[in-house]
Amino acid sequence: MAYNIDNIRDDFPVLKQAIRGKPPIYFDNACMTLRPRQVLEAMNRYYLCHPSCHKRAMHSFGEMTSARYEEARQAIQKFINAKMPQEVIFTRNTTESINLIANAFPFENGDIVLTTELEHNSNLLPWQVLSQGKGVIHRIFALGQDSSFDLDNFKDILAQGRVRLVSVFQTSHVTGQSLPVKAIIDVAHQYGVLVLLDGAQSVGHQKIDVQELDVDFFGFSFHKMLGPSGMGALYAKKAILEQMRPFLVGGETVEDVDYVSFVLAKIPDKFEAGLQNYAGAIGAKAAIEYLRDIPLEARNQHVLKLNNFITEKILKLPRLNLLGPKDAALRGGIINFFIDGMDSGDLSIFLDKTNNIMVRSGLHCAHAWYKKHKLVSTVRVSLYFYNTMQEAELFNETIEKIVKYF
Ligand SMILES: Cc1ncc(COP(=O)(O)O)c(C=O)c1O
Repeated sequence: MAYNIDNIRDDFPVLKQAIRGKPPIYFDNACMTLRPRQVLEAMNRYYLCHPSCHKRAMHSFGEMTSARYEEARQAIQKFINAKMPQEVIFTRNTTESINLIANAFPFENGDIVLTTELEHNSNLLPWQVLSQGKGVIHRIFALGQDSSFDLDNFKDILAQGRVRLVSVFQTSHVTGQSLPVKAIIDVAHQYGVLVLLDGAQSVGHQKIDVQELDVDFFGFSFHKMLGPSGMGALYAKKAILEQMRPFLVGGETVEDVDYVSFVLAKIPDKFEAGLQNYAGAIGAKAAIEYLRDIPLEARNQHVLKLNNFITEKILKLPRLNLLGPKDAALRGGIINFFIDGMDSGDLSIFLDKTNNIMVRSGLHCAHAWYKKHKLVSTVRVSLYFYNTMQEAELFNETIEKIVKYF
């Protein structure tokens, strides 16, 4: 089936509006993608038809909500190829998924958690906080030139013992590069070390098969793959989840309770305290179904075409510095750069106020890495499969003018 960008864009009502008389150009997809009407309609159906609690509500609305909620879990199970639905825990986002592990995994005194130097703050702060209180040690794994991952060095560190968990990004939100995660997991397992993958930037861009990867934990956010905001999930192997105690408890997390004791519920319920984001789960399922209908390969080829086109242009601009590899094929939909002598915040405002081109500027929640590399702030363009060549052309024209005049 040919890739029909016009049909795809028809599904995104937000792109049809005019701002200051011009269409919006949304290039901030690494933060949050837009949603097709199919996702919005699925969520609306929950509010319009059966807005109720799940499980404990035994009435008709409750039955419908329970059914849709568990169908969503099954859809996610299939999407990431988990062995069983109970291995999928609903969370608010990748951040919460990582915090859940930091707070609920039975770490022991002296255990080491290893992360790379290029993590999002969401995969740095939970370990820093953990290391302040519970005798767990947080170590940073230095990346090589161009953020390459040295597997020999990695092996040497693991061979020293005491590393309990390696927690790394799959795709970087800063450079767009992906780590060799299968090799990292295989090596870690040789040393009996568990691996948590931060899938925030890979999900919706790569095929995720948790069984093939043999990854122990995988955290991701649906708002980065057409789903509702504030909706995420944590995958974890059943045997590990069963060993873990929840860090949030309350309604639905127990099978029985009296004034002095309680019996925890089975997985996944023991990790999902209180009323849940039912519309969010239903919207996540609709997002998965939408993505399934447009082949991943076609989506990625389209994004690569746009990324190549922008990359070729900006590399010719004076004073422009690109983060990560020059080859667009190694950066997914991400183009992160700065211009010597120009404030990145100002640049992003110019792009927005002249042609509604919405990009991100700042330290991108990677303060430590920016400080290490003495970078003040950068502009990040992040593309998705509904962006067009015309949008890329307008971006190129606009940035050229800005660089010329300032
Ligand atoms: C690599 C990476 N990890 C974690 C996160 C945090 O995601 P969320 O805000 O959805 O929890 C992000 C968000 O941009 C990210 O890019």
